Amino acid sequence: MMRFSAYLGKRLVQMRMQQMLRNRDVVKDESPMHLKLPPSDEPSLAKRLLAELTLQEKISLLSGVNEFCIPGVERVGLKPVWSSDATLALRGWKAPVTVFPASVSMAATFNTDLVTLVGDAIGSECRSLGIGILLAPGVNLARVPICGRNFEYFGEDPYLSGEMAAAYVTGVQQHPVIATVKHFALNNSEYDRHKTNSMIDERTLRELYLPAFKRALEAGSLAVMTSYNQVNGTYASEHPYLLEGILRGEWQFNGLVISDWNSLYSTDGVLKCGADLEMPGGKYLTKEAVMDALERGVVDETAIDQKVGHLLSSYEKAGLFACPMVDATQEVGCSEHHATALQVAREGIVLLQNKDQALPLKEHWNICIGGDNAFRVAQGGGSSMVQWEQSPQSLASLVEGSCTFLPRYWYYLRSYRKRVASSDAVILVVGFNHIEESEAYDRPWQLDHHTLASIKHATSCNERVILVVQSGGAVDMAQLQGQVSAILWTSYLGCETAQALKDVLYGVVSPSGKLPFSIASSLADYRSMRTYPKDYASFSLARIHVGQGKANVRTVRAMQYTENLMVGYRQFDSEGPNPLFCFGHGLSYSSFSYHDLSVKEGENGAFHLSFFVKNTGLVDAPEVAQLYIAPLDPQIYRPKQELKRFEKLFLKAGEQRSVVWEVDEQAFARWDQEHWKFVSDSGNYAFRVGSSSRDIRLEQVVVYAKRKP
Ligand code: BGC
Repeated sequence: MMRFSAYLGKRLVQMRMQQMLRNRDVVKDESPMHLKLPPSDEPSLAKRLLAELTLQEKISLLSGVNEFCIPGVERVGLKPVWSSDATLALRGWKAPVTVFPASVSMAATFNTDLVTLVGDAIGSECRSLGIGILLAPGVNLARVPICGRNFEYFGEDPYLSGEMAAAYVTGVQQHPVIATVKHFALNNSEYDRHKTNSMIDERTLRELYLPAFKRALEAGSLAVMTSYNQVNGTYASEHPYLLEGILRGEWQFNGLVISDWNSLYSTDGVLKCGADLEMPGGKYLTKEAVMDALERGVVDETAIDQKVGHLLSSYEKAGLFACPMVDATQEVGCSEHHATALQVAREGIVLLQNKDQALPLKEHWNICIGGDNAFRVAQGGGSSMVQWEQSPQSLASLVEGSCTFLPRYWYYLRSYRKRVASSDAVILVVGFNHIEESEAYDRPWQLDHHTLASIKHATSCNERVILVVQSGGAVDMAQLQGQVSAILWTSYLGCETAQALKDVLYGVVSPSGKLPFSIASSLADYRSMRTYPKDYASFSLARIHVGQGKANVRTVRAMQYTENLMVGYRQFDSEGPNPLFCFGHGLSYSSFSYHDLSVKEGENGAFHLSFFVKNTGLVDAPEVAQLYIAPLDPQIYRPKQELKRFEKLFLKAGEQRSVVWEVDEQAFARWDQEHWKFVSDSGNYAFRVGSSSRDIRLEQVVVYAKRKP
């Protein structure tokens, strides 16, 4: 059980973080920017504006104000631009915003069209509230299951994360809003995040941790947020190799680089090669500090111009110069956005186990409902946490009919034990909430002692115990799995949590989520945990605070990524052990057959792949078809197989549909350390099509021949 002092400490951290986001009045400015610029032939407004600003004005644009605002320059008509967080919703505004499921549940939908709809809805809510910069999506991989922020990201796989991020960015930027892909890079831990140094080799960096960022930028993301940690000994916010070498150099990104909140650690480093914008306010990029650096010749004014240029050109590309700050035609919390939130919540629920068809529940059954999360709508904590304008309904308040609600310690009370024994099914909604699972610290691997006791007692007197586990990632389920009939995994599902759970539990819709991470039988099974601090679950305010924000006081701890590519299913499939629930797994109330795989070679080393999926069950249900590619004769060590395509299909009972995928040379690529680039080696590869990473239904070996340069 969490020690009381740790609990209080975490509460305090949450209170401090929530202070920052006490709901603000929404921006009411419905007029556009009227930039006051002298006539010129220069087509770029950003460039003209930059030329017009004084040095002092430019320096004022290097840091934020009021926690989330980028100041304007009234003299030239540049208005302040507001930013906002968004993991679940636009948080911190006095407005009934739509609270969407957390990103890891978006990933579990495996439905990119739906995620674009979420982005579109959030973009439109941004416009309604006058927000120009959205601080999302987060794409750090779930390297360790206990990372406090896994719920804010898209799981353990770079391809899935990249596709999700791209879909989200596309939706958001259909509006004049800047999307910010974060946290660049290797912020895969919340263990003293200001004081960790992610030590990684080049190949792992390239193959696992960077692709999702790259994909989000290819989809047009106009901003990037740096992270708190160091990477190979240098802070990410002033990292020459990551920022200049890769981001600006190789990827040719010329948008805005924003610091994470209080994540700059020096003036000179950042001016030479770091973030463009210091948030939430000036500490290292104040007028005094920047002028001093200019006088010392650390950089000259062109460095300031570059940074401000990135900011202004991102505004221009997004369309912020051309439209009113607030678009009164857009709405927050409208029924359309709620419908999208409900759809994601439903599709993000993963049915891990369903012994003897324990689910769906029958309407006329007597049921008992218990578990802390049945009586509240749980969220993750930290900067994603939403302060509800109106508390949403919990599952307990939504379920009608013959139902007993179990108090926390029901198992000590005879009358409740009798009711549990005589009911048709017991539903326990358990997991974490914002105190236990949050940024700024990691979370436990196990459910708490009281929850485990409740499950044990329930299973000892009832044969149909249905467990709903809410967490941002894998939790210890090895013991539970044998005890209970059914297990559903969800993360924090937002305003439609109760409706979505009810719909899935009662079979109004079939579950169709797939795990975006692997659940191992034991924490020690994850290779990435072997070098991880053993006291990850302990918490002390003192430890968190020492040296936070003060680079000269803190001791930085190395996080060794010695597992290299062996993260999640890449590890479990290549070298074991078998996971309890594998990546891509998720059951349905229906069943599906896969057949007639045909692979044809196209031009330039591409393959044209097609097959059919048929709903062979009795209910309409979606299925996610997945393609894993396995190199059969790799030239260097490679993971056994990797996800390269997926598609969600909606199939009526008995319906069959075809899936067609083009697979190009990129799908075979691996990082070549010698030539310092991605290469696709010629050789034999298996195309493995299935319903999860371990439920492969169709397989064909192809010979890939490298293209002649
Ligand atoms: C988080 C960021 C967030 C920022 C602003 C930081 O603590 O790491 O993800 O965007 O706060 O709320």
